[in-house]
Amino acid sequence: MNAAIEVTKLEKRYGAVRAVDGIDFEVHAGEVFAFLGPNGAGKTTTVEILEGIRPGSSGQVRVLGKDPWVHGRELQRLIGVIPQDFHFFPKLSPREAIDLYAALFGVSASARNLLQRVELDDKADAMFDTLSGGQKQKLGLALALVNDPKVCFLDEPTTGLDPRARRAIWSVIRSLKAEGRTVFLTTHYLEEAQLLADRIAIINLGKIIATGTPGDIIHTYGRPERLRIDGDPRMVDRLQREVGLPVLLEDGAVAVEIRGKGDAVKVLNWLDTSGFAYSSFRTSQDTLEDVFLRLVGSSDQATLELSPEGDVT
Ligand SMILES: Nc1ncnc2c1ncn2[C@@H]1O[C@H](COP(=O)(O)OP(=O)(O)OP(=O)(O)O)[C@@H](O)[C@H]1O
Ligand SMILES: [Mg+2]
Repeated sequence: MNAAIEVTKLEKRYGAVRAVDGIDFEVHAGEVFAFLGPNGAGKTTTVEILEGIRPGSSGQVRVLGKDPWVHGRELQRLIGVIPQDFHFFPKLSPREAIDLYAALFGVSASARNLLQRVELDDKADAMFDTLSGGQKQKLGLALALVNDPKVCFLDEPTTGLDPRARRAIWSVIRSLKAEGRTVFLTTHYLEEAQLLADRIAIINLGKIIATGTPGDIIHTYGRPERLRIDGDPRMVDRLQREVGLPVLLEDGAVAVEIRGKGDAVKVLNWLDTSGFAYSSFRTSQDTLEDVFLRLVGSSDQATLELSPEGDVT
């Protein structure tokens, strides 16, 4: 697999603060890679090192085979960037902003097409300082695409967007991938990462505590799938004894751990003949958000207990 980004033993210290504390990961060319972690985990620091905006303290970083701190100018032509908290000249319009960026890069870009792509064409001639927060984000994304980049760094591109605007950005991210670009995405919306990302790394306190596909991470760190029954909680002991599967009470529902489809059928047959009252049932599986909260909630413990190497892949 061709690597678009390679990070080896990267550290970034600010005095006594280890913002990035020895991380290793690789982003494959053409994939959407989500970099997740709580506030202050080290995401933006890492992104800015990859973009060549700041140097690491030690370790090695390669973007498209180049060291961003050494070959920053060359790389700027090959990457697109939306910084966290994107700002721009207040008295320029989106159309002028795109024309300006195109002139800076020495490329021709159609402001109309780019603004249509991010659904901002109706504001093409509005002044930047009159745009809403979400509209500014959309302009940031359009600007990140002016130079037809191979790798796009999107630092929280959907923060503060309404649900429809967020979906519009998702569809742009999907189309970037379909065009063969690599997307490095940070987000606090875990469902977004689960939907869009081919692979994920979770960083906490400057250290990567899990990497893998969303499915891998949920499978490795999540709880087993459960059949949840809204019914008489007194069934728990008998159900456990007679069906032989672990049963617990979860938010007032009876939850049976199931390992295969046969298990669910066994439980439902038992339920029908047992005489216990129930109103509904459904299967329930941990989401990426459930797993994230468990991992980040007690990351020291989690890395020790669940992954001796701190890595799923
Ligand atoms: N220029 C700086 N000087 C000193 N400390 C810094 C500097 N930049 C970042 N830090 C610290 O480094 C740590 C990581 O910050 P970073 O911005 O990378 O976090 P983040 O994961 O992007 O968080 P968020 O989700 O809030 O954007 C934080 O503790 C932050 O205070
Ligand atoms: Mg950040």
